[in-house]
Amino acid sequence: MDKVVSLCKRRGFIFQSSEIYGGINACWDYGPLGVELKRNIKELWWREMTQVREEIVGLDASILMHPSVWQASGHVDGFTDPMVDCRECKARFRADQLDEAKCPRTGKPVVPNCVEHLTEPRAFNLMFKTHMGPVEEAGSTVYLRPETAQGIYVNFLNVIGPARLKPPFGIAQIGKAFRNEISPGNFIFRSREFEQMEMQYFIPPDDDRMWFEYWREQRMEWYRSIGLTEKKMRFHDHGENELAHYAKEATDIEYEFPFGWKELEGIHNRTDFDLKRHIDHSGKDLSYFDPESKSRYVPFIIETSAGVDRTLLTILVDAYEEEPERVVMRFHPSVAPMSVGVFPLVKRDGMPDVARNIVADLRRYYRVFYDEKGAIGRRYRRQDEAGTPFCVTVDSQTLEDGTVTVRDRDSMDQERVPTEGLIPYFRDQLS
Ligand code: GAP
Repeated sequence: MDKVVSLCKRRGFIFQSSEIYGGINACWDYGPLGVELKRNIKELWWREMTQVREEIVGLDASILMHPSVWQASGHVDGFTDPMVDCRECKARFRADQLDEAKCPRTGKPVVPNCVEHLTEPRAFNLMFKTHMGPVEEAGSTVYLRPETAQGIYVNFLNVIGPARLKPPFGIAQIGKAFRNEISPGNFIFRSREFEQMEMQYFIPPDDDRMWFEYWREQRMEWYRSIGLTEKKMRFHDHGENELAHYAKEATDIEYEFPFGWKELEGIHNRTDFDLKRHIDHSGKDLSYFDPESKSRYVPFIIETSAGVDRTLLTILVDAYEEEPERVVMRFHPSVAPMSVGVFPLVKRDGMPDVARNIVADLRRYYRVFYDEKGAIGRRYRRQDEAGTPFCVTVDSQTLEDGTVTVRDRDSMDQERVPTEGLIPYFRDQLS
């Protein structure tokens, strides 16, 4: 992990938020390469959900919502983690994660070293509160949403009519969520501000098992399609005592991180819990009348809930490889922040002009990085660390016959390709 974190800083993927002021814990900023990687993840997910499929539509709900939403959802009363305090150093830990916790003062494991100093566990609500309007009073309290899902449920009626949908259908959303985590950590794995990609699939109640199985498989397939190593992923089906209060059945897709097998995405059968709670609290009828069966029902919901930042961390960890001569990020071409690096071998004989023309052509289709400084080997190494799948070098032979060297990041093999054939070449290689 330390090596991945240091590469992220060195190459401009991820920085700690507000670093020049000493940083703020568990908030992160994405630099030039990180932001491209993140956009690629979101675009691939969005396309998979809303473009490839006709029965899923998109939504972008606001982060601040009516406080009653969080009463109805159960978050005000129940979105808590058990917390213990250390009477000695005042540190706070999650009571259910004490085995993994270290004392911030001594660096030693909390169990058994600090156990005698710990308080009894207390429930700690993870929602961030703020106030709406100029007066800070109890009636003006609003919450930063801790999940994007509720924005979808409360818009059920707004979407189903204009989009002319009937179950089974889905609503997809990507957006920020905030949780005042007691024990954030492992770089961007558990943050206090993060993004979710959530899809809520509304179905007839009797079909819940079928659709749950279906989405479980679909989501695993998506992670395969973006290049994650098959044997590092697995399903973890929740037992009775692990299920969230809203779920009838749940599966996590887990990945084997350097710090162990951890959740990457959750797939839940949320039944009609959420819509019924919003019916009770809002007084609005969120049921669906099926004209074919002439029956009325409250749809069940199968939820797929993924973290953008956690997917990004998984991609980084999965791609990182050390070889004797280099560090290489073996990103799948679909997520790589840069697709092609273009270099003139030397800064003379007109090579930079030829290289610049190639950049201008390729930029219309791909993210291209131009670099003319330093030894060519060093320029290749830099692109290996950025995970750029291909590099194009303009050399003296280019000036004679119009061909360029194309170097493959993974094999480091080089071949000559005519300049005018580069666009179809990359269309084949990068698709
Ligand atoms: N709507 C259901 C829900 O929010 P969750 O298991 O609490 O379920 C879903 O969160 C996903 O969101 C997780 O699998 C993870 O990828 C991401 N996530 C949750 N908390 C996170 C945090 N503190 N930092 C980064 N990602 C987080």
